[in-house]
Amino acid sequence: MIDFECTPQVDLVFMNREHRKAFDDANALAGLLDTFLERLLDGAFESEAEQEDEPGIKTSQPDSAKIEQLLQVLLLDTVTHFELEQQCMEQYGFPARGEHNKEHQRVLKWMAKQHGLWSCDCTVETITHLRTYAGDQFPNWLLNHIVTMDTVMASYVHRHGGTCL
Ligand SMILES: [Fe+2]
Ligand SMILES: [Fe+2]
Repeated sequence: MIDFECTPQVDLVFMNREHRKAFDDANALAGLLDTFLERLLDGAFESEAEQEDEPGIKTSQPDSAKIEQLLQVLLLDTVTHFELEQQCMEQYGFPARGEHNKEHQRVLKWMAKQHGLWSCDCTVETITHLRTYAGDQFPNWLLNHIVTMDTVMASYVHRHGGTCL
């Protein structure tokens, strides 16, 4: 997990706000998946002898509903985050906006694919995979994107009088 407070800030306030939200969403999701996985493994090991032919593991409704909700929040917040950056790049004619938008679209596709793996009776392997996605892969991608493309874009817009609050 990555804490927003430990990441470099860019020159535009709205972008820092969106980045904080994204790290918070991902951390909340990873935390919930961690707890969920622990409970699941405890339960699964206890009932292993009785239910050897169970294909997936049935999860409790409130926990799975919370995970589903957080997956949606992370995806929708990311759509908003990217749309705001894209509007800002258009407004200030940022030269590399095509490349930046392309990267946003690539990541949204990858995220949608990951989020589509979730179901209320998915396997321990899938939950572990989603935990790695929320706790490591997504935040690491975001950090790398912030220190490269976002930093350059925010600096350009700021130097051209933009605030995009
Ligand atoms: Fe960003
Ligand atoms: Fe970006």
